[in-house]
Amino acid sequence: MPDPAPLTTGFGELEAGPTVRVRVWDLPTRLFHWVLALAVLGQLVTGLAGVMEWHFRIGYLVLALVLFRLIWGVIGGRWSRFASFMYSPATLMGYLRGSAHPDQRVGHTPLGALSVFAMLAFLAAQVATGLVSDDEVSASGPLTRFVSNATVHLASTWHAAAGKWVILVLVILHVLAIAFYVRVRRQQLVKPMLSGDKLLTHTAAASRDTAGSRLLALVIFGACAGFAFWISTLRL
Ligand code: HEM
Ligand code: HEM
Repeated sequence: MPDPAPLTTGFGELEAGPTVRVRVWDLPTRLFHWVLALAVLGQLVTGLAGVMEWHFRIGYLVLALVLFRLIWGVIGGRWSRFASFMYSPATLMGYLRGSAHPDQRVGHTPLGALSVFAMLAFLAAQVATGLVSDDEVSASGPLTRFVSNATVHLASTWHAAAGKWVILVLVILHVLAIAFYVRVRRQQLVKPMLSGDKLLTHTAAASRDTAGSRLLALVIFGACAGFAFWISTLRL
């Protein structure tokens, strides 16, 4: 049986061999990702199983993580910034037709970017609706008393009837897409999300990932966690 093709980052290594190691995902982004993945799974499980005290606790963590990522998307490492993966529809179409610029494969590709923005947007909506949801039995979000009954009803319907499925489907698509790129396209994506580095055939700007930038991320995350904690104290 022939050896399987080597795993690559997907642009030219088969011909030239990867030569340049570039820091693409800074440590704060990587920690954000893996903690978010665990927390979202925890939210689906505790929500469906009705373990609401933990659903609230982990929910505040997701709130802090999403807030952190929104700020890090503006001031984080080069490839974590939203501006680095905001592509026009024309660029997306070009990518789908196979004419990608090498830079589009350093961070999130145009297609990957769509999935990242969709996941962040629906997670933000799930958190926002959770804060004002009420199951009319025992679980009531911390901000329900500040909004009208109609809003609580609308938010609870989205949160419990539709939002949870949208998130589950997005996560399944996300993991299947990663598996497709790794197994079929032979592109290594998971290791960079663990180590931070990609092996490229051409030089590319690296993401800042210094002690200073990590400390800044910690301070920002602390502020986001403090805000989430304050929201939690508003629950009666
Ligand atoms: C509930 C589960 C998960 C959620 C909510 C989630 C969410 C996300 C988000 C928001 C990003 C964008 C990262 C950023 O720029 O901040 C991302 C990227 C990524 N995720 Fe996940 N993820 C989940 C599970 C997983 C799993 C299980 C794997 C590994 C098999 C994985 C592998 C990756 C990789 C490799 C990337 C980078 C993709 C790229 O190179 O464009 N994720 N994920
Ligand atoms: C990633 C974020 C979240 C996910 C995936 C999620 C998922 C779920 C699920 C699956 C349920 C059970 C729905 C059912 O009865 O079938 C639920 C219910 C609920 N969640 Fe969340 N949730 C999230 C965030 C939050 C947050 C941040 C809060 C509040 C702090 C929250 C508050 C509630 C409440 C009050 C209910 C009961 C609502 C009802 O049954 O009408 N959730 N959630």
